[in-house]
Amino acid sequence: MVDRDTIVEVLVTGGAGFIGSNFVLHALASHPDWRITTLDKLTYAGRMENLGDVLDDPRHRFVQGDVADPAVAGPLVRDAEIVVHFAAETHVDRSLLDAGAFITTDVYGSFVLLEAARHAPRLRRFVQISTDEVYGSVDTGSSTEHDELKPRNPYAASKAGADRLAYSYWATYDVPVIITRASNNYGPRQFPEKVIPLFVTNAIDQLPLPLYGDGRHVRDWLHVDDHCRALDLLIERGENGEVYNIGGGNEVANIDLTHQILELLDRPRSLIEPVRDRLGHDRRYSLDTTKLHALGWRPRHAFLDGLRATVDWYRDNDSWWRPIKEVDPAYREYYQTQYGKGDRQKA
Ligand code: NAD
Ligand code: TYD
Repeated sequence: MVDRDTIVEVLVTGGAGFIGSNFVLHALASHPDWRITTLDKLTYAGRMENLGDVLDDPRHRFVQGDVADPAVAGPLVRDAEIVVHFAAETHVDRSLLDAGAFITTDVYGSFVLLEAARHAPRLRRFVQISTDEVYGSVDTGSSTEHDELKPRNPYAASKAGADRLAYSYWATYDVPVIITRASNNYGPRQFPEKVIPLFVTNAIDQLPLPLYGDGRHVRDWLHVDDHCRALDLLIERGENGEVYNIGGGNEVANIDLTHQILELLDRPRSLIEPVRDRLGHDRRYSLDTTKLHALGWRPRHAFLDGLRATVDWYRDNDSWWRPIKEVDPAYREYYQTQYGKGDRQKA
C-alpha cells in the first residue's frame, strides 16, 4: 500500500500515442507512488487500446481533451507535480501536406501548458519532449545540446519552436523545465505510418515497401523502452533549464534497415519500391549523448535484437494494426494521398 501523502501526481500528455503509452505503462510499473493522468485528444494517432492494460488501474485516469484548450489542460497542469509533455502532431510527411495542426498542437499547445505551469504550486518537473530533428540534417559528426537549431521541415520547426518556448519559461519564470531531444524511436504500438511499422506490416502482407529517394538517409534508432528509462532518469536527476539528447547509438541507412526487415520476415528484396524522395528530406541525424551517459544511462536494446522483437510484436498483434490499415477511412485516405498515383510515382 502506498501512503496517500506520498502519492506523486503526474500528468502525461499524448499518453495514448506510441511513446506516451509505453511511458505510462513503464511508469506505473516502476513507480508505485505515482498517480498518472493521461490527457490525449485521440487524434488518428491516439488509441485507447494502447492503454488497455492500465485503463482499470486505480492509479491511472484518462482524460480526452486538447492540450491547446486551457479550460481542460490548465487545471490538470496546476494539479501536477510532474508533467511529461508528449502530445504532438508527429509525422513529417503529414506536416508537408498540411502544417496547420502542427502549429496549433506542437507550438500553441505547448504554450498553453507552459502558461498553466507558471501557476502550478507543486510542479517540480516539466519535461518538454523535443526531437533530434530540431538540429536539422547532420553532414558529419554528431549534434551536441549546444549546437544551433536548423529545423528543415514544418514538423521539426514546430518542435523547435516549442523546445525554445519551454526554455524561455524556465529562463523567464523559473518553470522547472527540462528538454529532451530523442532520436527515432521504434518498438510496439507505433502507428503504422512511420517507416518501421509501415514496412513490417507491408512486408507481412507481401505489399511494396515505398523507399524514399536513394534510401541512403540515416536515422539513429532508439528502442522506446530505452527512451522511457532515460526519461525516468532525467525526471529524477536532470537539471532544470537543461537540454538532454537521447540517442540509441544505432545509425542505420534506410536501405539497410529495409533489408533487415525483409530478412527477418523472410521476404524478397523485390518488394522494395523506390519512390520519389520526401521534400526537404534530412539526410542524417546523429546525436552526441555524452551528457546523458554521464548520468549513467546506457541503452539496453541492441538494435537487431530490438528490431527482431518489434517485428515479432507486429506479427503477433495484427489485431492491433489491421483495423487501422484496413478499416480506418482516414488511414486509407492518407495512404492513397501519400503513396497513390500522382505525387509519389516511382522514382
Ligand atoms: P504519436 O503520433 O504516436 O502520438 C501522439 C499522441 O498525441 C497521440 O496519442 C495523439 O492523440 C496525441 N495528440 C495529438 N494532438 C493532441 C492535442 N492537441 N491534444 C492532446 N493530445 C494530442 O507520437 P509519438 O511517436 O509517440 O511521439 C511522442 C512525442 O515524442 C512527440 O512530442 C514527438 O515529437 C516526440 N518524438 C518522437 C520520436 C519518434 O521517433 N516517434 C522521436 C523523438 C521525439
Ligand atoms: P519516419 O518514420 O517518417 O520518421 P522521420 O521522418 O521522423 O525520421 O521516416 C524514417 C525514415 O524513413 C526517413 O528517412 C524517411 C524514410 N521513409 C521512407 O523511405 N518511406 C516511407 O514510406 C516512410 C514513411 C519513411
